[in-house]
Amino acid sequence: MHHASHTAERPRSTPPAVRPRGAKLLGIGAAVPPDVLTNQHFVDRLDTTDEWIVTRTGIRERRVAPPGVLSSDLAAEAGRRALEACGVAAEEIDALVVATATPDTPFPSTACWTQAKLGLRHIPAFDIGAGCSGFLYALLNGNALIKSGEASRVLVIGVDELSRITNYQDRTTCVLFGDGAGATVLAPGDDDGRGLLATTWGADGTLAELLIQPAGGTRMPASHETVDQNLHTIRMNGNEVYRYAVRAMQQAALETIEKAGVDPAEIDLFVPHQANRRIIEATAERAGIPMEKVMVTIGSYGNNSAASIPIALSDAVAQGRLREGHLVLCAAFGAGFTWGSALFRW
Ligand code: ACO
Repeated sequence: MHHASHTAERPRSTPPAVRPRGAKLLGIGAAVPPDVLTNQHFVDRLDTTDEWIVTRTGIRERRVAPPGVLSSDLAAEAGRRALEACGVAAEEIDALVVATATPDTPFPSTACWTQAKLGLRHIPAFDIGAGCSGFLYALLNGNALIKSGEASRVLVIGVDELSRITNYQDRTTCVLFGDGAGATVLAPGDDDGRGLLATTWGADGTLAELLIQPAGGTRMPASHETVDQNLHTIRMNGNEVYRYAVRAMQQAALETIEKAGVDPAEIDLFVPHQANRRIIEATAERAGIPMEKVMVTIGSYGNNSAASIPIALSDAVAQGRLREGHLVLCAAFGAGFTWGSALFRW
């Protein structure tokens, strides 16, 4: 069934109770590298088991970018696919927002590298740093640019290559992460009912030490010592992060549902950040969303940080689980601590 975007015709028999107040997502694209690291890879090298990884995290395998494939390469590929998916030309994009914790270079921004690779016009291009909440932070920034009239087509990309900052001797972190990118194109909402209905975002910098890449910035500039001590890799207090993550994701999701004034039963698809299957299940339960309506991609990709939500959205479209008119809830938390949530009609 086709629905022209210029009419008020709805794919559902009843019109939506709530009108979108924000930008709409025109299309989605993702890029994950082909190389797979299975749990067996770690079982062969570390004191760990497939059973521990699967039961504690839900992860079975993850993707790792080959050497020389940069964050901006994955970002550009995901961006290209998002543009193709909605038939928007690169020349039409008037802002580029890239969320990443693993930039090609500390400066210039990954957005600038990506802009050049995509051949975009001389538009504003900038990075957002919000760890695993990065995609939602970028989405909300893009939404603000659209709503202010500053831009009318914003390319929003989440990309991370956490493999590049992972200590593969540390079994408590190395089994968790994978590389990838995902992107969407934002446009002003119109009267077709599609678009962002409600959003929530926040941060608590007092929890910054719990999840950190200690060295490489002004706090601990790169030196022989920082390299010898592996201080350029991710340090995480898993238990503490877990506790705050569950709470932050649940609160953000509930607040967004309440702001939008929708009944959780109306939500067609919940697309949470993929950090741990148990965190996803706890959040879905608290939000009153059954697991049949939840995208769980962590088994095949691990934690893709800023890319996990758009990759899951892209898989949902490919699997026919996300269709026009669907009501979609997203929620994430990440280093900072940061959190975010968005409810939109696709
Ligand atoms: N294999 C086997 N045993 C392991 C492994 C492993 N890969 N990793 C840890 N263990 C051991 C620990 O050493 C510990 O052993 P001990 O009891 O002898 O000390 C035991 O397993 C239990 O460890 P916990 O840390 O308590 O395990 P937990 O159930 O909390 O699971 C996990 C750990 C998966 C990391 C969990 O805490 C978690 O998911 N935390 C949140 C992670 C997250 O969401 N990060 C945020 C996103 S990342 C970003 O923003 C970049």
